[in-house]
Amino acid sequence: MSSSSFKFNTFHFYIIIFILQVFAATPILSDNSSFNDFLDIAKSPEVFDWMMSMRRKIHENPELGYEEFETSKLIRSELDKMDIPYKHPVAITGVIGFIGTGLSPFVALRADMDALPMQEMVEWEHKSKVAGKMHACGHDAHVTMLLGAAKILKHHEKEIQGTVVLVFQPAEEGGGGATKILDAGVLENVTAIFGLHIDPNVPIGEVASKSGPILAGSGFFEAKISGKGGHAAIPQQAIDPILAASNVIISLQHLVSREADPLDSQVVTIAKFQGGSAFNVIPDYVTIGGTFRAFSKQSFNQLRQRIEEVIIGQAAVHRCNATVDFLDGVKPFYPPTVNNGDLHEHFVNVAVNMLGINKVNKAMTPVMGSEDFSFYQQAVPGYFFILGVKNSEHKPKSFLHSPYLEINEDGLPYGAALHASLASTYLLKHQQDDERKYHDEL
Ligand SMILES: *[C@@H]1O[C@H](CO)[C@@H](O)[C@H](O)[C@H]1NC(C)=O
Ligand SMILES: *[C@@H]1O[C@H](CO)[C@@H](O)[C@H](O)[C@H]1NC(C)=O
Ligand SMILES: *[C@@H]1O[C@H](CO)[C@@H](O)[C@H](O)[C@H]1NC(C)=O
Ligand SMILES: [Zn+2]
Ligand SMILES: [Zn+2]
Repeated sequence: MSSSSFKFNTFHFYIIIFILQVFAATPILSDNSSFNDFLDIAKSPEVFDWMMSMRRKIHENPELGYEEFETSKLIRSELDKMDIPYKHPVAITGVIGFIGTGLSPFVALRADMDALPMQEMVEWEHKSKVAGKMHACGHDAHVTMLLGAAKILKHHEKEIQGTVVLVFQPAEEGGGGATKILDAGVLENVTAIFGLHIDPNVPIGEVASKSGPILAGSGFFEAKISGKGGHAAIPQQAIDPILAASNVIISLQHLVSREADPLDSQVVTIAKFQGGSAFNVIPDYVTIGGTFRAFSKQSFNQLRQRIEEVIIGQAAVHRCNATVDFLDGVKPFYPPTVNNGDLHEHFVNVAVNMLGINKVNKAMTPVMGSEDFSFYQQAVPGYFFILGVKNSEHKPKSFLHSPYLEINEDGLPYGAALHASLASTYLLKHQQDDERKYHDEL
């Protein structure tokens, strides 16, 4: 019986639990009926209106990576109101909250807080009040949904069999905030971490994810190609870095098309080309820059090595010198986001139970984008999924990192309830595992 061909209803569901408990003594989905009302709580006017106002406040006041001071303050004041203890500052603006017994097992839920340096183009009542800054990646909604989950979990704190660690993280957009959170040691005893990202093209009440690699690893590079400037009409006295850089770029495109396995998705993009300032002067040098993406560490390292070789080698063909900088200090590499298989099963159980089997895409097509959530997954088993926030009206320009991004706030309760349910049922299941282990040892 595969879960994809089996339509869950409550009756069947309890039979499965019963059968598993009698014959296997290993409940796959630790059901506690008191945890089944999370979505109803999240949708209740009291919680929903509060979440909407949080999201709008954060949206109006976007802050860039490591500058999320007001966002952090708002989070702390809401945690204070809910009587939820927290650590601060962690990684400059980060806040780490704790709900439950304070004892093991520990499970973490993560939200990123930073905005992007771009001007919002949507005209609405709660448009960004800061010129040139916008929550165009939905991190305002991520923070709100984690606060929503905190409210639900706090309401059920007596039933939580372990500790939920709330991770409000700075600087996802290129600043590597996750690394700083890990370095602070606050996730030391955590055995699993969950995170989500909104998607304005997925309908409300739907989620998508997969086991294994879901987002690519990402790196950046910048190269300086030096020649010898001169008069544009007397090229024989100059060494033209524009032509050299042009050939470098063409050659870089052969890395994916000729050297990579066609079934192993990779990207090399040159997004920056700067050189020259006159119509009749050959410049001294050109700088180019770009990004590369791959789904495995091996492919990623291979690309990195070849990008450097090709730039230097191809520049030399044109008598130019080149230096390549992978910007390790400023823009650290992001590893691929790889979902743990056991947590995938857990997620599918929780999501199908809450949303229905037709609302859960468990074989999502991976995306070449990347996430610093991947750093957590290198330290502990982690799981990342996509949550629908699509508008009922078609908004063709509304996508992530677009100045026209619009989020349907009706998606907020789903994210909050899923977070809360993923964490509480994870703890229940692992508490039972601990107890069983203890029992077996006796
Ligand atoms: C469910 O929660 C209640 C507390 O409301 C607790 O007494 C009970 O043991 C829990 N059920 C399971 C299966 O853990
Ligand atoms: C992790 O657990 C150990 C042992 O119980 C404890 O000493 C330590 O303080 C815990 N660390 C955190 C960050 O909670
Ligand atoms: C390249 O570097 C070599 C060695 O430093 C130097 O002699 C040469 O002039 C440089 N060429 C250009 C075009 O900058
Ligand atoms: Zn983003
Ligand atoms: Zn994002």
